[in-house]
Amino acid sequence: MAKGKTTVYFCQSCGYESSKWMGQCPGCHEWNSFVEEFVDKRTQAKTGAKAAHTQSAPQPISAVELHEEQRCSSGMPELDRVLGGGIVPGSMVLVGGDPGIGKSTLLLQVCKNLADQKTRVLYISGEESLQQIKIRAQRIGEFSDDLRLLCETNLDDIRQTIEREKPQVVVIDSIQTMYREEISSAPGSVSQVRESTATLMQIAKGSGVTVFIVGHVTKEGVVAGPRVLEHMVDTVLYFEGDRYASYRILRGVKNRFGSTNEIGVFEMCGDGLREVENPSEYMLSGKPEHASGSVVACSMEGSRPILIEIQALVCHSNFGIPRRTAAGTDFNRVNLLMAVLEKRLNLKMSECDAYVNIAGGIRMNEPAIDLGIVLALISSFKNRPIDEKTICFGEVGLSGEVRAVSMPAQRVAEAEKLGFTTCILPKVCLDGLQQKGNIQLFGVSNVREAIDLM
Ligand code: TYD
Ligand code: MG
Repeated sequence: MAKGKTTVYFCQSCGYESSKWMGQCPGCHEWNSFVEEFVDKRTQAKTGAKAAHTQSAPQPISAVELHEEQRCSSGMPELDRVLGGGIVPGSMVLVGGDPGIGKSTLLLQVCKNLADQKTRVLYISGEESLQQIKIRAQRIGEFSDDLRLLCETNLDDIRQTIEREKPQVVVIDSIQTMYREEISSAPGSVSQVRESTATLMQIAKGSGVTVFIVGHVTKEGVVAGPRVLEHMVDTVLYFEGDRYASYRILRGVKNRFGSTNEIGVFEMCGDGLREVENPSEYMLSGKPEHASGSVVACSMEGSRPILIEIQALVCHSNFGIPRRTAAGTDFNRVNLLMAVLEKRLNLKMSECDAYVNIAGGIRMNEPAIDLGIVLALISSFKNRPIDEKTICFGEVGLSGEVRAVSMPAQRVAEAEKLGFTTCILPKVCLDGLQQKGNIQLFGVSNVREAIDLM
C-alpha cells in the first residue's frame, strides 16, 4: 500500500467510521454494514486545510444583516410547498428515493419549468446518456434552450463547467455516480459521496447556485445511502410511493428554510408527474357504498389534512391462531386496538381473523386514525355498514378512552369541503370548535359512545 494510505471501515448506512471491521454499527445498529475503504490521509489533510482557510472575525448578533431571501417558484405548487414556499437560491436540496420512483422525472420537470422562466439550468447526469434524457424529455414536453444537459461524473470537471457556464440551478443525477479523483475509493462509497457533496456544497455556497442532488436508497447498503448526506445539505426530500400505485408522495424530512413533514402528492402519468391538488378526493375515489367495515378517517400530513378510507375485514378463524394483517398502518397498533375492544367492550375478537387496510396504498401512522380503525373493525365484526357521510378521528387509549388530537378545526373543514355531514371526534376537541356549515359534530369521550352513535 502506498505511504500515507490507510484502511478505514465505513458504515454504509450512517457513515460511522472505524479502524476495525464490526458486525454491528454502534452508530445506527445496522448489521453487516461495514465496508473497507482506502483513505489517503494526505489528500484529506489537504482538503481539510483548504476548508479551514477562510477565517472571519466573530460578530455581535445584532450586527448581522438580514435580507429577505428571494424564493423562486419551481412551477409546481406541490413541490414549492414541501420546500417551504419555493426554491431558495444557493440552497442544496437532496431528493432521495427508491430506484424508479420518479426522481429524475420530477427534477427534469422542475428544470423545464425553470428554463421556461428564463432561468439558466444545468442538468448533469451520471446515469443516463443524452439520448436517454431526451427520450424522457419528449414525454414531458417542449424544452427551452435555457436548459443545458451534460453527461459527466468527474466533479472537478463539473466545477469548471459550472464556473464557465454560470448556471443558476444545477441538478446532479445522481450523487452516487459522482467522484473526485483524489479519493481512491469507488464512486458511491461513503468517502466519495461525502467528499463529492462537500465539493458541491462549496460550489453552491460560493457562487449562489441552487443545487439539487439525487440520491438512491438501497436496502442492501451496496451504495452509500443518502443518510450520510442528510447532515450536509439544507433540505432533504424523500420521494416515496407504492410501486403498484400511480401516485407518489414527496415528503420533507429536513428543511432549513421551512417546516418539515409537509407532503406533496403527485401522480405518475404517461407524460410525466402530475400534481394531485386534492389528495383526499383522490384517496376516497372508489369507496364502496353500503359496505360494512369501511370508514373514512382524517390524518394530518404536515399542515394538510388528508381523508383516507380505512377498511377492515373480521371473519371467523378456522385455525387456532387467528390471522391478523395491517396494510398501510402499524401492525402492532392494530393488535393493540383489538385487545382494547376485547377487554373494554367484551367483543370476542380472539376467535376472528382480522385484516386492516388503508385504501389506496398510502401509509398512515398518525394515532388520530385509531378511532377509524376501531370503528371499521366493529362495523365489520357486527356486519353493519357505517353511514357514508360520516368521518371520524381521535386517538384511542388503552382503557378505551378517545383522546385529543391536534388541529381538529382543519380536519373538520376538510371533511366539510368534501361533503361529509357527520363528524365523530374527541369530546375534548369540541371546545373551541363552532358548529358551522352543514356538518354535525359529535364529541365522544370513549369508544363505547362512538359505537352508540353509529
Ligand atoms: P425515473 O424518473 O427514471 O426514476 P428514478 O430517477 O427515481 O430512478 O422514473 C422512471 C419511471 O417512471 C419509469 O418506470 C417510467 C415511469 N414514467 C412514466 O410512467 N411516465 C413518464 O412520463 C415518465 C418520464 C416516466
Ligand atoms: Mg433516475
